[in-house]
Amino acid sequence: MSSQDIPEENLPHVQGDTHSSDVTKPAGDPFADPGLPPHEHRKQDIDERAASRSERMVALLFLVSMVATVGFIASYVSIPVDKIVYVFPIGHVSALNFALGLTLGVALFCIGAGAVHWARTLMSDVEVADERHPIEAAPEVKAKVLADFKQGAEESAFGRRKLIRNTMFGALALVPLSGVVLLRDLGPLPGTKLRKTAWSEGKMLINQNTLQPLRPEDVQVGSLTFAMPEGMKEEDHDFQQEIAKAALMIVRIQPANIKDKKTLDWGTDGILAYSKICTHVGCPISLYEQQTHHVLCPCHQSTFDLSDGGRVIFGPAGHALPQLRIKVNDKGYLEAMGDFAEPVGPAFWERG
Ligand code: FES
Repeated sequence: MSSQDIPEENLPHVQGDTHSSDVTKPAGDPFADPGLPPHEHRKQDIDERAASRSERMVALLFLVSMVATVGFIASYVSIPVDKIVYVFPIGHVSALNFALGLTLGVALFCIGAGAVHWARTLMSDVEVADERHPIEAAPEVKAKVLADFKQGAEESAFGRRKLIRNTMFGALALVPLSGVVLLRDLGPLPGTKLRKTAWSEGKMLINQNTLQPLRPEDVQVGSLTFAMPEGMKEEDHDFQQEIAKAALMIVRIQPANIKDKKTLDWGTDGILAYSKICTHVGCPISLYEQQTHHVLCPCHQSTFDLSDGGRVIFGPAGHALPQLRIKVNDKGYLEAMGDFAEPVGPAFWERG
């Protein structure tokens, strides 16, 4: 509907036009209603061919959206999950994710763009003032609505036909389950993968910088050494996942300065091995204060006391840093005596 189709009485009172004399301007009122500016017609309001062009453009956008939606469904059923493609300039990406994102994005964008173009070029753009008025219905209207509702309920036999009513409730309650089923696509459950790391009994501690097995004499008092389990290689496809759980910090503290007996027993000659993964939200810890034996997580400043079982002494972390039990093997190298006794990293893992 163009602005010409709007009944004269619905048009706003506009300054400068024939209605401007109606604008109330009490003498001396500094906040008098200034009225609306003169209405300017768009090309589509006065040129039928321009209006037709806009109509075709809107229809085209909606058609493109339909095609994109069909493309989305076709991609979902036809593209293998593990197919990788190169897309400039993003690089290598999952073909399925890329196709789903692209088609859904185009479908939604075209609906939005079509609606905006329709509203801006073809729908009426006349500003109409709607004065406020009480919204409560008159008592007789309320009574009539109530009577109509009761009559409708009576005629539909909603109360009497219990079989229909109950099955309808059942159908409405079950239909959201189809959405729940789709959650299956979020992937297989992690099982115990988050609870176990690559450490096991007899695995030597490998210096992450030199990639050599660590001997006790390589770890000096006051130094901080990072280690990983024997057998892990950076080129392994799951290296990042495994090192994110297995990364170790090795420190050496004078045994007399170790406050906790278990901490002392789980190390060897003052050499202690702790998880490097912060128990708050999993940042790698790397700042060691050798005088106090505190380590600081750079993300949110959680601070742990390595001389006291990795206890949290400051910050948001909720758990001590897990300690790995180690010993010196027959060949003189440091080795693990098993996996961590508790899950490493953020605390929610142990609640899963
Ligand atoms: S991740 Fe370490 S303090 Fe937040």
